[in-house]
Amino acid sequence: MLVLGIESSAHTFGAGVVERGRVLANEKRMYRVGTKGMIPARVAELHAKNAAPVIKEALDKAGITTEEIEGVGYTKGPGMGPCLQVGMLAAKTIASSLHIPIVPVNHAVAHVEIAKKEARLKNPIALYVSGGNSQILRLGEKPNRHYAVLGETFDIGVGNMLDAFARNIKLNPAWGSTVAKEAKGGRYVPMPYTVKGMDFSFTGLLTHASGLAKEKSNNDLCYSIQETAFAMLCEATERALLMANGRELCVCGGVAQSERLKEMLAGMCREHGIVFGYAGNEYNADNGAMIAYVAERLLEKGASAKLRDCDVKQRYRIETAMVP
Ligand code: FE2
Repeated sequence: MLVLGIESSAHTFGAGVVERGRVLANEKRMYRVGTKGMIPARVAELHAKNAAPVIKEALDKAGITTEEIEGVGYTKGPGMGPCLQVGMLAAKTIASSLHIPIVPVNHAVAHVEIAKKEARLKNPIALYVSGGNSQILRLGEKPNRHYAVLGETFDIGVGNMLDAFARNIKLNPAWGSTVAKEAKGGRYVPMPYTVKGMDFSFTGLLTHASGLAKEKSNNDLCYSIQETAFAMLCEATERALLMANGRELCVCGGVAQSERLKEMLAGMCREHGIVFGYAGNEYNADNGAMIAYVAERLLEKGASAKLRDCDVKQRYRIETAMVP
């Protein structure tokens, strides 16, 4: 099948084209946060402007016309309501005008599934880390295959925590990746460390590190908050792997672009003889190809939705989502 996937859950509007599991195009445009956070209505406004050109770019890159699309998938959630609405409306417009099937996709499922494909893993435990989400996941057995959450954040996602910290100490742009750059060569300052079994919490760490802004250098604080947060994720993931007897681990989501996090996870996996893999950054950042990839497999299983039933869900939990 030739399937178009549309992603718009947060700062990125993405359109991807997939055919028989092969990515033909993966185009995107992003909202730039600068020193301020995301204002959902403004981001949605930008997505609405970008939707048509980004979809056209994806079709051009794939070398196909609109009429050749055989199915369309869109991100139903989790994400920011106004942003999700833009992607859903674009997908519904295409599906209704071309009379082709449409399928809603869970954003987290898409991140994990594209990482599994790219890393050539069969059935890994997944550490899914992004702005709004931080979860340790395992796919259940057939026939009712759903992802189970083995552990997760009690409060905010690790990406939002790092972004909020960057804003608090006035880094520009206020991204987790700016924290990563600023962390190089820093010295460790003791930080609160909160892991409860396979769950973890980041707000205490954020409050404490932000409160030290006048006493300590940005360099030392960025190093310490990053090392502490990633060590917490590693500990919880290690426990999940050992308790579930997992033999493979993948890391996915926006924060999986962090070289330091991957280095720490790789070291932990090496100690236990666990196979570790991840997708390239193109697929860890939000993108339309991962939505198209899952949509194609869902559509082939006959999982299309009626247009009137297509909606968005800001807190769309992965445990309740269809898995291809
Ligand atoms: Fe994401």
